[in-house]
Amino acid sequence: MTREEKFKELARKNAESKIGGGEKRIEAQHKKGKLTARERIDILLDSGSFEEIAPFKMHRTKDFGLDKEYYLGDGVITGYGNINGRLVFVYSQDFTVFGGSLSEAHAEKIVRIMELAMENGAPVIGLNDSGGARIQEGVLSLAGYADIFYRNTRASGVIPQISAIMGPCAGGAVYSPAITDFIMMVENSSYMFVTGPNVVKTVTHEEVSSEDLGGALTHASKSGVTHFTYENEVVCLQNIKTLLSYIPQNCEEEAPVSTEVVARDQSPLDEIIPENPNQPYDMREVIDVLVDEDSFYEVHKDYAQNIVVGFARMDGKSVGVVGNQPSVLAGVLDIDSSKKGARFVRFCDAFNIPLLVLVDVPGFLPGTDQEWNGIITNGAKLLYAFSEATVPKITVITRKAYGGAYDVMNSKHIGADMNYAWPMAEIAVMGAKGAAEIIFKKEIAEAENPAKKLDEKIEEYTNKFANPYRAAHRGFVDEVILPSQTREKLIRAYKMLENKVVNLPKKKHGNIPL
Ligand code: HXC
Repeated sequence: MTREEKFKELARKNAESKIGGGEKRIEAQHKKGKLTARERIDILLDSGSFEEIAPFKMHRTKDFGLDKEYYLGDGVITGYGNINGRLVFVYSQDFTVFGGSLSEAHAEKIVRIMELAMENGAPVIGLNDSGGARIQEGVLSLAGYADIFYRNTRASGVIPQISAIMGPCAGGAVYSPAITDFIMMVENSSYMFVTGPNVVKTVTHEEVSSEDLGGALTHASKSGVTHFTYENEVVCLQNIKTLLSYIPQNCEEEAPVSTEVVARDQSPLDEIIPENPNQPYDMREVIDVLVDEDSFYEVHKDYAQNIVVGFARMDGKSVGVVGNQPSVLAGVLDIDSSKKGARFVRFCDAFNIPLLVLVDVPGFLPGTDQEWNGIITNGAKLLYAFSEATVPKITVITRKAYGGAYDVMNSKHIGADMNYAWPMAEIAVMGAKGAAEIIFKKEIAEAENPAKKLDEKIEEYTNKFANPYRAAHRGFVDEVILPSQTREKLIRAYKMLENKVVNLPKKKHGNIPL
């Protein structure tokens, strides 16, 4: 072959690898309203920044006629590029090649970029669209999955890992996204389940569609498996970029700082808490006023809505916000909200993102359902997560902080750096009525007019405990402040805490109650 012929051969192979499973299958992919693996990468990465790795890698299977069917790249495109100028590693499964199914070679490509990402301290983004294990390869494919799961686990807490589900993700394949930090799903075209509707029908006799069993909306609201859902792939890909803008490249670095900070009118905060302590309000409104304009990026928005978590910026710097939500179940802590909060707190702590905790919590949710499903173990997750976090941690008690939930919600006692309370804060073991009924039981029963006595005792208890001053006298609250002063106080406190160093006791790892 002449040199020119060799160059031509390379060009031909490059062109072949670019079309994956061929024009017909690309057309079929588009007909389903889905983009191809390459189109997704083009949207995700800064223009012209993608460098592909191993585009010619192929499977090595000879069984079931696969010795006659080869595609360059073997159903996954891997490489690196930039998002807003920052390095990321990407894999994008190509459904046009064997349905994006995972072969040994396909897995090796993913493993390679995961290792490069770990060595070079940059996030890994997986764009998943796959029929699961390459059926013709048997255990080789299962081994490939396990190689990925193992690296997902090794990379956890070292580099951010984001999974976008843009098609099928079934069987054991779901466990790679599950180990990563964030899952995004595309509505109506993606699903995740350990066993599909047919197996479900055989085993449990339930009839359920793929969408109901494991579609985006199911996992966003019922299981909490996905953190985000989007109406289409383009919006999903754009949101990966937005999410990355709040988080650092790796556990040794800080998140990017925005220079676009505008002064904010804080006076609406003085009006936000209703005079009646039993009237709900939306904690998101508090967050929206407190943080940099339009910077709140909610995570897990449709799941366990009695707690609100998400990223925001304070004076340009990333913070992780955790707030009880009085407008849903009065902001009570239950199993799901504890798990949601704990997972988010641990992500922030792993990646040096300071915490802002907004407290308005009447306590833990009572009942057999909660007890039998383990509110003890699950509530402890949130307690553990706040206690072990060493990032700057600031708490603002906006209204209620009752019972064990007061302790759990980043109280001074479990390591918060600064604790503020608003003047309408109520910090006590329980609500005044319940407390009065217990501690003045005899007095009330023996009174001439028990109802009047109860009211008196409720008032007595309220005057004594339903305020922030008892806690402030003890130093459990550092300062009682006006709502409208809060932003300024927070910005100064975060600046003061910028170089915070906490040395944890030597250990292999803790044993969070799972
Ligand atoms: C090999 C596969 C494949 C697979 C799909 N294909 N899944 N090839 N291994 N797992 C191929 C098809 O043969 C077809 O090839 C092409 O991909 C597109 O598939 P279609 O069925 O035509 O597409 P569609 O109708 O959209 O259906 C998609 C699908 C379906 C729902 C994903 O293909 C399907 O059910 N596949 C099998 C899923 C599965 O059971 N996987 C194993 C799960 S167990 P042609 O040549 O016609 O284009 C598992 C265990 C993992 O993954 C364990 C990890 C620990």
